[in-house]
Amino acid sequence: MNPEAKSMLLHRKDLLGIADLSVAEIGMILETAETFREVSGRAIKKVPTLRGKTVINLFFESSTRTRTSFEIAAKRLSADAINISASTSSVVKGETLIDTALNLEAMAPDAIVIRHGSSGAPQQISRIVKASVINAGDGAHEHPTQALLDALTIRRAKGGIAGVRVAIIGDILHSRVARSNIHLLTKMGAEVVLAGPRTLLPEGLEQVIPAGTGSVCFAATIEEALAGADVVMALRIQLERQSGGFFPSLREYSVRYGLNQRRLALAKPDAIVLHPGPINRGIEIDSDVADGPFSMILDQVENGVAVRMAVLYLLAGGEKP
Ligand code: CP
Repeated sequence: MNPEAKSMLLHRKDLLGIADLSVAEIGMILETAETFREVSGRAIKKVPTLRGKTVINLFFESSTRTRTSFEIAAKRLSADAINISASTSSVVKGETLIDTALNLEAMAPDAIVIRHGSSGAPQQISRIVKASVINAGDGAHEHPTQALLDALTIRRAKGGIAGVRVAIIGDILHSRVARSNIHLLTKMGAEVVLAGPRTLLPEGLEQVIPAGTGSVCFAATIEEALAGADVVMALRIQLERQSGGFFPSLREYSVRYGLNQRRLALAKPDAIVLHPGPINRGIEIDSDVADGPFSMILDQVENGVAVRMAVLYLLAGGEKP
């Protein structure tokens, strides 16, 4: 990699979390993603930007959207994309994360995209490999490209992020999506309001989020959070990260915290609905809201390809199309 070329891109090797990013870097990624959106609308969806580069997708947890969109993003930039699932790798024979990363590094990839169930796994491998490491979700810690694609969706729908009121509803405690979004939205000047069962709201969150130009607070009820919201983000219940006992039953959760038409009516008349997916219909969100006129859930997926193209381009280095 030509270091001079890299300095014209992002001044960093890795994308590990939104907490590390400056407002200017977030802005650069979103602007670059805007330019890449157009590529997906072409008859031939390919630009030579990352020709000769190699991107490895290393997924230790299941994924539909993130893994597919990173693969599509790499291929649309003409990079070689290789997918590795933990279940079909030598991890099942007992190989450690570090040994896996060192062996992949020996094959000279330019970027390693990693999803792992343990918080901090991407940070661990970023210290031992020369390739750019991109966090595709680590435990309950961060999911930076999800927050970036959410930001692109909000920006396109609302004309900006500063001053926008965003209600994030549900399992905040176990959600890396919520954590990355809180970092990003507060840095960019949004007003973030969180609501969910008390058992699924982390203690002291306001203290761990550095003061940006925006704000973050807990609402006493879901209705209070929704009142006057410009953006409503429903979160999936992360049953795979719960040991149980956080709420009596999924039925009760749906009745008390599910996003339905009646609750959505409390938000602004032009409020948009987001969800990172996969959605649990009838639990955290009703089908008529998920499929309704204000839902931008599939726009988020579309924007995910452009954001991941931007991140790969800005980190792995390439020429502008
Ligand atoms: N939003 C998201 O991370 O979806 P996947 O788990 O399908 O990648």
